[in-house]
Amino acid sequence: MRVTLTVGTFTRILPEESTIGGVCIPKDTQVFADIYGIGLNENYWRDPLEFIPERWESRKEIDPFSFIPFGTGPRMCVGRRIAEAQMQLITAHLCSSYKLHLVKEPDPKFEVLIKPEGLNLSFEKRV
Ligand code: HEM
Repeated sequence: MRVTLTVGTFTRILPEESTIGGVCIPKDTQVFADIYGIGLNENYWRDPLEFIPERWESRKEIDPFSFIPFGTGPRMCVGRRIAEAQMQLITAHLCSSYKLHLVKEPDPKFEVLIKPEGLNLSFEKRV
């Protein structure tokens, strides 16, 4: 959900004039949080495109605002727990019954959601 995520951004309207990253932004401006960009930012992630599962072992080393696929704060996704449970159940069921092979690299399309167009998998039944 850091590199191949589905929701790439969320928005907020600033309730007051704010300075973000040294830039003064007027009250009532709509700002976008770049979830996708933060997840690939080398200031927060060593070798961001590398598959390093161990990086998650010590959550203390991860800035909590560098991984926000469900947003953050009082308006964060209300479906987070159900979505996480569904993904874990589906992944466990699929992987216990099939070996999955990537046939063709996905070619993500950025719309409101990021869709993995061209994601081709083959399923090999486990014996
Ligand atoms: C992988 C699945 C999902 C992802 C990545 C996701 C991501 C997000 C994100 C980024 C936001 C904006 C949060 C913010 O502004 O801080 C959001 C809001 C929301 N999500 Fe999800 N979501 C997922 C699944 C679901 C599901 C399964 C439900 C319902 C069962 C759901 C219901 C909502 C609702 C109602 C909001 C608006 C919350 C508010 O404005 O107070 N989402 N989601």
